[in-house]
Amino acid sequence: MDQINNEKLSSDLGSGRGVYISTYGCQMNVNDTDRMYSLLEMANFSPVQTPEEASVIILNACSIREKPVHKVYSEVGTYRKLKERNPELRIGVGGCVGQQEKENLIKNQPMIDFVFGTDTIDSLPQIVADVYAKEKAKIVSTKVEHRSPYHVETLVRNPGVSTFVNIAKGCDNFCSFCVVPYTRGREKSRPLQHVLTDIRHLIKRGVKEVTLLGQNVNSYHSDCGADFADLLARVAKETDIERIRYTTSHPKDFNQKLVDIMYANQDKVCEYIHLPFQSGNSRILERMNRGYTREEYLEKIKMIKAAIPNVVLSTDIIVGFPGETEEEFADTVSLVKEVGFETIFAFKYSPRPFTKAAKFADQVDESVKGTRLNYLFDEHDKMAFELAKAYEGRILDVLVEKSEPTDSKVSGRSTQNKLVHFLGSESLIGKTVPVRITKAFPAVLRGELVQA
Ligand code: 5AD
Ligand code: SF4
Repeated sequence: MDQINNEKLSSDLGSGRGVYISTYGCQMNVNDTDRMYSLLEMANFSPVQTPEEASVIILNACSIREKPVHKVYSEVGTYRKLKERNPELRIGVGGCVGQQEKENLIKNQPMIDFVFGTDTIDSLPQIVADVYAKEKAKIVSTKVEHRSPYHVETLVRNPGVSTFVNIAKGCDNFCSFCVVPYTRGREKSRPLQHVLTDIRHLIKRGVKEVTLLGQNVNSYHSDCGADFADLLARVAKETDIERIRYTTSHPKDFNQKLVDIMYANQDKVCEYIHLPFQSGNSRILERMNRGYTREEYLEKIKMIKAAIPNVVLSTDIIVGFPGETEEEFADTVSLVKEVGFETIFAFKYSPRPFTKAAKFADQVDESVKGTRLNYLFDEHDKMAFELAKAYEGRILDVLVEKSEPTDSKVSGRSTQNKLVHFLGSESLIGKTVPVRITKAFPAVLRGELVQA
């Protein structure tokens, strides 16, 4: 496994210097922030809780839906006073926004000292060292390594009980609405042995559950010819991890082999699948370049339910994609009901730079998007509460993650990915225990520990 070479850096660089990272965005970004902190800790920087305590402030911003560039500029603006008071303060922008905007960031906001991208995170200690070495230097480091094998070890500061392990990055699907192929580059999978080694290390640090993470985990392909289903089976068989989850799946690549392996390893692989469908209408799906029709998506759901009868499903949806009519939107609502998703993540379509759909002439009015989104959430709420109520009286296996000593409560997730609260002591953290559900609320279940 490649070692991250920070030895060359002066160990004095970080001594006495605090680093603060402000993160907005998806799970991938949260994961990247952890990696940035870990790398800078290796160069002796100390993570701090507030920007006021920091010598280095980094904004790690996701650009998938919003206009985060404005957010970045306005946040950097709030650091003006800090920068006046502390000439040692350096401000950097990373993540997808860094990748997307490159030197424009520094041109438009001179308070920014350095910009780095999604493929240059591992050079962060060197970038920071260079920024300090050269008075007034501005650094932009956003080179994307196409197709290079993805040889990085998982770096998580405080993994806790449940953590994410990256298995692939980037995406080759080019859905017409999505900026990811441009900000995170072509898809690269990590060697299978590296994933296994990382998980074994995490287990030694107390981790009980891993979520295998990639933009499209189903197109994982390792150096040794293994596909995602093989990887899942090997993580289950060749490590002592107690629970495995994964995200995100793409319907076009979701296959029978994967559900069979999930079923065969159900003692470890959770019966929860996040399968974004984006739109319930085949014409819109084609314009989205998703590679499946409504009927094909429903076929995949049928296959999943047949193989894993107790499966719990969630999804991502975009409303108001260019050209979407009321009837086509109604197809999205009906698909939500037909499948019975317990959770939906729905968003108004947002035109993103470089993408094909941003250039479509028939953009939908913002107010129409807003009305459709609210309607979709209202319809789903009615259904979701019923689905949640069905858990009352059931006993779920809950992996305890946190305690709140003030009211003697603990919380954790069931294999179905339900958040469950119940009375219990801190000593339960890291244990999987049976909990009888006594009351369902829209976002959380309350229960009681079933005594052995
Ligand atoms: N507009 C709105 N939602 C988007 N997503 C991705 N790109 C866009 C966009 N341009 C949503 C998709 C994806 C989720 C992570 O974000 O639903 O699955
Ligand atoms: Fe974006 Fe589509 Fe790739 Fe998902 S599969 S990251 S939506 S391009």
